[in-house]
Amino acid sequence: MYLPQKQEPLQCREMPAPVSSKQSPLTLVRRLRRLREHPGVRGLVQETRLAPTDFIMPFFITEGPKEALEALPGQWRLPIEDLLKHCEQLVNLGILGLCLFPCLGPKYKTPCASAALDPDGLVVRALLAVKAAFPQLVLMSDVALDPYTDHGHDGLLCPQGHVDNDATVQQLCQVAVLHAQAGADWVGPSDMMDGRVGAIRRALDKSGHERTGIISYSAKFSSAYYGPFRQALGNKEKRALDKRSYQLDPANGRQALLEAQLDEDEGADILLVKPAGLYLDVISQLRQKTLLPIAAYQVSGEYAQIHAAAQRGWLDLNACMHESLLAIKRAGAEVILSYFAVEAVKGLRSF
Ligand code: PBG
Repeated sequence: MYLPQKQEPLQCREMPAPVSSKQSPLTLVRRLRRLREHPGVRGLVQETRLAPTDFIMPFFITEGPKEALEALPGQWRLPIEDLLKHCEQLVNLGILGLCLFPCLGPKYKTPCASAALDPDGLVVRALLAVKAAFPQLVLMSDVALDPYTDHGHDGLLCPQGHVDNDATVQQLCQVAVLHAQAGADWVGPSDMMDGRVGAIRRALDKSGHERTGIISYSAKFSSAYYGPFRQALGNKEKRALDKRSYQLDPANGRQALLEAQLDEDEGADILLVKPAGLYLDVISQLRQKTLLPIAAYQVSGEYAQIHAAAQRGWLDLNACMHESLLAIKRAGAEVILSYFAVEAVKGLRSF
């Protein structure tokens, strides 16, 4: 958002020096710098503007005490009562939505992710608490099994060791219904199993949750940039877990569009691309193809790398934060999930 700064000089320092004769030496019909020299003109012609309403803020929640996350500076594992304080801040800043990720200790993790179905589990209690205190916020829950599996995969493993698609989808349907019951406005399947959007839609409808939406992680790439997230979930040694048998190959843009098409056909309400900054081509191509809203997830590694370079004095944190988010919106995303959401909105006035 452009707001004139008090200290900003009205005349730009790089204004071309006046030439001696009245006649300009170049006869140019089009001088695009006329759109750039005056800060006010720059503000008027700006094509893309970030606003508080663009963002969904992801939060990590815990049964334990509040804990800072080493690889995600400024982010925390939050007990539910602290989460509520952060929700109040979202409301004050005009941010409309949040997404929850549970960080669970080893005793909650099993091969069959049974804790994901606990009707009194951490996510369920957090959803109930946020919904009761802040009904105006849009509550998104991540529907995946990886916070609950001891092997760290997003699905159940067959005896042969590979991820069992259809058994996983059945369990995800139960998780989605549980979250909808607890107040999730959007369930976000992030597992990349085939057919899960249609199955979840049917399960939600059958259980009377036809008003609960599906924000589908349609194009989720098998990315090395999820490292800090996996560490936050307590899967430090699984930072480099190989999920290529279900997540998209970073080389395949066309297949990402196919995935999105299938999710749209199966009833997804919003299509999500993840990571965001490295896949702007996918966001932009999807924007040409679908009439649905598009969300993009600026993932933990994208956040961490900007922070790491800024800590060394190599990059300007605020400028890079703003530029990275602006690029995601310019590519065509209406909704941006980002750990920067709160800081970015606080800083919008200075850009
Ligand atoms: C998995 C999930 C992942 C993220 C969100 N949900 C990582 C993974 O596939 O292992 C990553 C988000 C981030 O890196 O910020 N269900």
